[in-house]
Amino acid sequence: QRAPDGCPVSARAADFDPFTDAYQQDPPEYLRWAREQEPIFFSPQLGYWVVTRYDSIKAIFRDNITFSPSIALEKITPTSDEANAVLASYGYAMNRTLVNEDEPAHMPRRRMLMDPFTPEALKHHEPMVRKLAREYVSRFIDDGRADLVDQMLWEIPLTVALHFLGVPEEDMDTLRKYSIAHTVNTWGRPQPEEQVEVAHAVGNFWQFAGKVLDKMRQDPSGDGWMFYGIRKQKENPEIVTDSYLHSMMMAGIVAAHETTANATANAMKLLLSHPDVWREIGEDPSLIPNAVEECLRHNGSIAAWRRLVTADTQVDGVDLPAGARLLIVTSSANHDERHFTDADLFDIRRDNSVDHLTFGYGSHQCMGKNLARMEMQIFVEEFARRLPHMRLAQQTFSYVPNTSFRGPEHLWVEWDPNANPERKDA
Ligand code: HEM
Repeated sequence: QRAPDGCPVSARAADFDPFTDAYQQDPPEYLRWAREQEPIFFSPQLGYWVVTRYDSIKAIFRDNITFSPSIALEKITPTSDEANAVLASYGYAMNRTLVNEDEPAHMPRRRMLMDPFTPEALKHHEPMVRKLAREYVSRFIDDGRADLVDQMLWEIPLTVALHFLGVPEEDMDTLRKYSIAHTVNTWGRPQPEEQVEVAHAVGNFWQFAGKVLDKMRQDPSGDGWMFYGIRKQKENPEIVTDSYLHSMMMAGIVAAHETTANATANAMKLLLSHPDVWREIGEDPSLIPNAVEECLRHNGSIAAWRRLVTADTQVDGVDLPAGARLLIVTSSANHDERHFTDADLFDIRRDNSVDHLTFGYGSHQCMGKNLARMEMQIFVEEFARRLPHMRLAQQTFSYVPNTSFRGPEHLWVEWDPNANPERKDA
C-alpha cells in the first residue's frame, strides 16, 4: 500500500485502526511505535495522516490557517444515502459552530461570546455544581458499590451544560440518548442498520434544539450562554446568525457534556488505580487542582482532533499537499517524552501537566476548559472527602469505538459503608 505521496505505507501504519479496543483502552500506548519511529504516517484504513508528537501537534494547533479546523466535526465514516435521507426528513442542517469555523468568521464570534466563560461568570455556577455532586453522592453513599458513570458522571455535566446554556431541564433523558447518538454519528463507525437509527436520534436532537431555542427567544432576558447569544444576535445579526445559534445549541450540549463526564471517569479510574495517590489527595485536598490537570494529561477524554491542510506544507519532514487530512492524536502528544519527563508516569506534582493538549491549543482552544476543570475538581473533592476508602471494583472497561471521545462506559467502585466518615444526610 502507498500513501498519497507515493511512499510505501509501513506495516504498522497499514494496521492502524482507531476503532479497535487497543486504541480505545490506551491510545498513547497504541501509538508508542509511531512517536518513536514514524511520528507522522498515512493510515490507509482512515484516509488520514496521523500525527503523534507534541511539538508537531502544537505547531499545527498554532497555525489555524494552514491547518484548518473545518473538518473537526465531519463524519469520519460517510453516512449511507438512507441515513442522509432520514436526516434530511428532520430538516437537519447542522452548520459551522466555533470549533470548526475558519477565519475571518471565527475570531469575532469567539470574542463576542466569551464573557460567560470568564472566571467571575463561572463562579456563579459553582454552588450548583457542588450541590449536584453532594446530592448524587448521597444517593449511593450507603450502598457500598456504585457505577460512577451511570449513577453520577453521565448526568451531572449534562445538567450543568443545560444550566450553563440556559436550557430547561425537563428533557434530560431524551437529550442524553440523542447526544450519544450524535457522537457515534460524527466520530464512530456505525453499521448500516445502526446509521438509520442514529440518524433518527440526531434528527430529533436537531428539532428539539430548535424548539428550545424558539422558546428562549420569546423571553431572551434569562441567564445562560444561549440567552447571551440571542441578545448578542440582536446587536450583531451578521456575526451571531440564526443557523449558528441552532447549531451551537446542539454542539454546545455535546461539547460540555460528554467531554466532562468522560474526563472525570478517566480521572477517577486513574486516581483509584493509584491508591497511594488517592490517599494523599484525601489527606491534602490542595493537591486536587494539579492532580486533575495531570489526569487530563495522562488520560484525557479527547484522544485526537482533526485538521485539514489548506496549503502545501511539511510536518515532521513529510510533504503534505493541500487537501491532506490530519488526525492529530493529542493523547499521544501528552505522553511524548520530548516534552514531558517520564511521560508515562502519573505524577500529580508534575510542574508542566498544564501543557497538555487535551483542550487543544491556540485560537480554538476549548472555551469551556475552566468550567470543565471546576466540575472535575468538585467531583474529585466530594469523592475524596466522603468516600476516601473507595476502590476500583474488578471489571473490564468498555469504550464507544470512535477516534476522539474517550471514557469508560461504566466505572464500578466499591467501599465499606460502615467505614464511611460521613453519613448520607451529612
Ligand atoms: C473546543 C476539549 C469541555 C466548549 C474544544 C476543543 C477541544 C475541547 C479539544 C478543540 C480545541 C482546538 O481546536 O484547539 C474539551 C474537553 C472538555 C471540554 C476535553 C472537558 C474535559 C467543554 C465545556 C464547554 C466546552 C464544558 C462548554 C461549556 C467548547 C467550545 C469550543 C471547544 C465552545 C470551541 C472553541 C473555538 O473553536 O473557538 N474543546 N472541552 N468544552 N470547547 Fe471544549
